[in-house]
Amino acid sequence: MDEEFRHPRLAAMYDALDGNRSDLDNYLEIAQELQAQRVLDVGCGTGTLALMLADLGLEVTGVDPAAASLAVARAKPGGQRVRWLDGDATTLPELDVDLATMTANVAMFVDDQTWPQALGGVHRALRAGGHLVFETRDPARRAWERWNRAHTEVVMVVSGQGHVRRWCEVLDVALPWATLRWTFVFETDGQVLTSTSRLRFRGQDEVEAALRVAGFDLIDIRDAPDRPGRELVFLTRASTPSTTATANDTATGLTKLGARSHRRGPTHPGCTA
Ligand SMILES: C[S@@+](CC[C@H](N)C(=O)[O-])C[C@H]1O[C@@H](n2cnc3c(N)ncnc32)[C@H](O)[C@@H]1O
Repeated sequence: MDEEFRHPRLAAMYDALDGNRSDLDNYLEIAQELQAQRVLDVGCGTGTLALMLADLGLEVTGVDPAAASLAVARAKPGGQRVRWLDGDATTLPELDVDLATMTANVAMFVDDQTWPQALGGVHRALRAGGHLVFETRDPARRAWERWNRAHTEVVMVVSGQGHVRRWCEVLDVALPWATLRWTFVFETDGQVLTSTSRLRFRGQDEVEAALRVAGFDLIDIRDAPDRPGRELVFLTRASTPSTTATANDTATGLTKLGARSHRRGPTHPGCTA
């Protein structure tokens, strides 16, 4: 597992280095539009979205295999309002949630062997007709081309750590895989830590096929409003066992979702990793 999430010193800095998290607004909106009451955040990391959802009064479960990240999440104000599970998408108990989320490209950290099991695990954790929404980088945008020191190096002052220099480099691209390495230099004590991630790029057709097999109906593929043209955001619904579309979709949130959909439009150049 990536050191970035499991090393205590790196997990403690994840939020400081990860920016303002405007990427999560989209997920908060979807939770509200679907009128979700019970939400599961898969790959919750340091718990930022889970805690935002709990602040809205929702019943939230966060699951992550990185104990150090979960420790950060648990210790945050309001952490006791979320149920934290040490595990992954394949080991979920029956939760009967209305909505499951996977933010910040969690799906790309899941290897091919685990991917069908992960989708199956999430499906079982959802109530019939519940929704899964997640994002993955659009392979067509070739994000790996910007994973170099020139594009990514920053020096930040991190509370309790002082100046931290960070950059990433691509180690290997053998599509559909790309491997990148983050380097963190703690300028106060000279410690250097690295974290290597092997990311799986999945295109739209491939994701759609996996969703079908796992028993999800595709409702929409959207843009991520904060990263226009770079992400595929899948909005899906767990089919009933017969896989026939049910319900009350039009009676509840889905009508509103359709109306507010940020459909993917023309792409924009630029941006970093
Ligand atoms: C980039 S972080 C995103 C964390 C969080 N979702 C956020 O928005 O900040 C990716 C997370 O996915 C988790 N992860 C990796 N493989 C996973 C799996 N098979 N099931 C659930 N989570 C996983 C990692 O431990 C890490 O916390």
